[in-house]
Amino acid sequence: MNTRGRRAHVVCRADELGPGQRLIAACGAVEVGVFNLGGEYFALLNRCPHKSAPLCKGVQRGYLTADEPRQISISASKEVIGCPWHGWEFEIRTGRSYFNPHRVRARSYDAARVSGQEIAEEDPSVPTFRVQREDDYIVVYV
Ligand code: FES
Repeated sequence: MNTRGRRAHVVCRADELGPGQRLIAACGAVEVGVFNLGGEYFALLNRCPHKSAPLCKGVQRGYLTADEPRQISISASKEVIGCPWHGWEFEIRTGRSYFNPHRVRARSYDAARVSGQEIAEEDPSVPTFRVQREDDYIVVYV
């Protein structure tokens, strides 16, 4: 029950994080924002790489694109998070920043929906969070 050698943390039951919703949870020593983007799960460190604001408490919005000048459209799913302090924006899926995607990035973690059965069978050390075998859970690998 680990991805890239990371430890699994159960953050909630899957039905507590619907599409478009987010939550902030402690995962060991770090605080992580967990996002449900249309049934896919993503996690970012709740600390902005600029001046350490609680990034995941910022405003979520759609992805802006423009095929031509003045032809701007915005995606329905809110895939961008804006920092609440100075407004730097990051892709929730990757942590990449908009203003400098090659140098500035919010720390991201793997997140997944996992059955209680899997958690109970694969890593009994995980349940610091009580799990039921018949439910699904959102797990972040930190
Ligand atoms: S602390 Fe996030 S943009 Fe400044």
